[in-house]
Amino acid sequence: MPRASPKGGSSIFEILKLILNAIGVGAILWWCVASWRLHSINPAASSGEVHVPRVGKGRKKTAPTTVVPVSAEEELGQSNPDAQSGQSSPKVPLGDPFWVFCASQWSHCWCHGDIRWGNEETWHMIPAKPGEAQKIECSIDHLPDVVPGDDLKHCECLITPGTEVYRRTNPMIIHQDEAERLGATLVSSCELFFEARKAQAVDMAQWLAMEGLCSEAWEEQVRFNRSLRAGPRQLSVETRQHLFRARVDVRFKKIMARFSEKGWFKRGWVTYVAGDPSSPFVKMAEELIKSVHYFSSWPIIVFNFGLVMPESWTPERFPRLVILHSTPLPTEAHLKRSFNFNKLRSILMSKVHTGIQVDVDQFIAPGADILFQLTEKWIHKEYPFPLMPAHFADWSIKDQPNAPWWPRYCPDPEKPCPMQTMRWAHAHPTWTYWALPFFGRWVRRHFRDERLPNVTLRGFQAPGLRVGEIPEDEDMLNVALWEERATQQWCKFDVPATVEFESLLNWKPSDGDRCLHGIGCTNIGGDQRWYVEGVPKVYWTAHHAVDPVQTSKILELIRVKERAGKWPPAIVYDQNFWKSGEELHAKHPELKCLT
Ligand SMILES: *[C@@H]1O[C@H](CO)[C@@H](O)[C@H](O)[C@H]1NC(C)=O
Ligand SMILES: *[C@@H]1O[C@H](CO)[C@@H](O)[C@H](O)[C@H]1NC(C)=O
Repeated sequence: MPRASPKGGSSIFEILKLILNAIGVGAILWWCVASWRLHSINPAASSGEVHVPRVGKGRKKTAPTTVVPVSAEEELGQSNPDAQSGQSSPKVPLGDPFWVFCASQWSHCWCHGDIRWGNEETWHMIPAKPGEAQKIECSIDHLPDVVPGDDLKHCECLITPGTEVYRRTNPMIIHQDEAERLGATLVSSCELFFEARKAQAVDMAQWLAMEGLCSEAWEEQVRFNRSLRAGPRQLSVETRQHLFRARVDVRFKKIMARFSEKGWFKRGWVTYVAGDPSSPFVKMAEELIKSVHYFSSWPIIVFNFGLVMPESWTPERFPRLVILHSTPLPTEAHLKRSFNFNKLRSILMSKVHTGIQVDVDQFIAPGADILFQLTEKWIHKEYPFPLMPAHFADWSIKDQPNAPWWPRYCPDPEKPCPMQTMRWAHAHPTWTYWALPFFGRWVRRHFRDERLPNVTLRGFQAPGLRVGEIPEDEDMLNVALWEERATQQWCKFDVPATVEFESLLNWKPSDGDRCLHGIGCTNIGGDQRWYVEGVPKVYWTAHHAVDPVQTSKILELIRVKERAGKWPPAIVYDQNFWKSGEELHAKHPELKCLT
């Protein structure tokens, strides 16, 4: 269904979706099958056999040596006898070149090796250019129509093991035995979550989050439970299991080891990206990564759902970057989910005690680390929900007349709406592990397409809602928080435009606590229901930083000012700077948002 309303940054994600499409149907099918069949369980500290009751296809746990190696070609249903000959032994981790799905028809393929266009037995070859990547539009407008009438025409990219680009390739798409041998260790998976489920409090929370997504036993248990019935858009438990597997990028393993303990990061920024190294999203992500290195002392965990990571992202340049790789979401019409559900997958696979999710069109600013502390202060056993910042607009059924959730939560904003518990929030969640079960529960509801029942609350009749019909992650997170009666949100710590940072860049010590320069000093627009005087801006992160060149310049300017001790406090409300949330809330006890 179409988006119910325009929201900040949605156009970017439309394009991201296109990029995802470029990766395509065939690839996900193949990756799913390949990763499942070829994966050999290699738990780091497992003592003997662990019985995993039907987490995954009732398959027995197999020792790595007895896994029957299947070449990528075989998995793709192609016959290439040459590729079979060089089955690598553990000491020779180099296999023969193999083809991977690169782009569906009408999308672009970015590839260092040869590219081929066509389907099954008929291909048009585009030879590689030595030493450089090619980006090709895979369509009959640019390439000969080798299989007229075939809608499944696509491009494939030839990957050659051992090359420099191979080291940066998503290890979820290569032979899974080889990924393991190369050291791209599996760091998240249903089996690992299950095996660790009693190890520490965080692991228990993780399994609580994952059980309904991962476990076939659970699926069987609830088969006759009407309230947990899966709908027509459900992803099977096998597909769900594939979607929660992540491998660490070999080059960033040491960094991961340095920042994690017993498999968990204490704190971390978490983002996600897909796209070739020339894509604007990857360039935006690079600025975000830079900003974390400038202004935070915590690591940033980047989930890659695409093919190849850029050459310039090295552990030397970014000593607090950790890249984890996973597979893209399915793209078949009835299984399709918005690209942004990868945000929720990233959160569930990131294994951080305390996390702050940031999109690639964000950057962080001085003082942002305090958000980790505040997140730990507000999210705990008694309040086990993520916190998101208030949106810049108080969306309602007036802006989104066709959105399926409003009849349940607020059919008329002029009247009391007991089911809507707070203003629309922006999908930039922060969380502690206490909120993991919440994420797991709602991703499960979406991925199983469950239905929320009709309820009556204080005389208000709320009709049911099919969760799988909710189009975007942000829509679902708002629905989920209201549904569970959560009431807390952040003030606007993701300030909508980079230009607003000009107001802080123009601050002079002689201004004192007055914010005098530009639109960055004004409140976020108010509303009659939640924030009559508007919402404070908190300059811990920027949003809509969509021009990497501009972002890079702003980051340097901020850095210079910060180093000179001339960066003002981050909180701005009523044209004033506030040194802390305490100071602001003491003066304005009516403000519902947290800082
Ligand atoms: C069905 O599932 C719901 C939600 O988990 C649970 O509260 C309820 O007890 C279950 N019903 C039965 C009959 O098992
Ligand atoms: C839920 O409410 C809708 C109308 O809002 C009604 O058509 C439907 O029959 C109700 N379902 C149940 C199970 O009561």
